[in-house]
Amino acid sequence: MKQYCVDLAFDIQPFIDISFINTIPKDAYQYKASLFQHINPKFLLLLHKLELTVYNIPEVFYCRANHSGMIHADNLNDTISKDPTDFVRINFSFYGKDSVMNWYSVNADTESSISISTTGAPSYKYNPDQVTHIHSQSVSFPSIVQVGIPHNVTTGNEDRICFSLMPLKNNMRLSMNEAIEIFKPYIKV
Ligand SMILES: [Fe+2]
Repeated sequence: MKQYCVDLAFDIQPFIDISFINTIPKDAYQYKASLFQHINPKFLLLLHKLELTVYNIPEVFYCRANHSGMIHADNLNDTISKDPTDFVRINFSFYGKDSVMNWYSVNADTESSISISTTGAPSYKYNPDQVTHIHSQSVSFPSIVQVGIPHNVTTGNEDRICFSLMPLKNNMRLSMNEAIEIFKPYIKV
């Protein structure tokens, strides 16, 4: 079965001080965060042992309660991804009870438009009638999530904050299968 979201568990606390998440502003959807300010160096070392680096500007996504986010496929720098429809992020979901991430296939004869986020990142934007829902799953702490195909987040009665890392191997993004292979010892069973 094709996987869109795989939950991981680490025995190292990934963040230096988890309370920072309560200080993020809530006036936009997307923020740039600081890797070395927030991520535990021991967690970075663990990634290093897996021969991974992470892109040095993590992002934080804020989604208010009872909201359905924009359907989009993440922006793609073609030089760092082998397959433009298959690359992952590592997402840590904070709060967001009953929120889920949704994945979609693109309907035939559909053209996306380009959307520019508050951090200046372009993504391919789709209207709900341009896609077909294929999967929904709640994101854990963390999960490997597929972001090369259209996706969005739907929240329940609680705001959701997501801290997102972009893992790289040899400066290339990981496909879902590559990520599953690399993180095999840490996949939650
Ligand atoms: Fe995304």
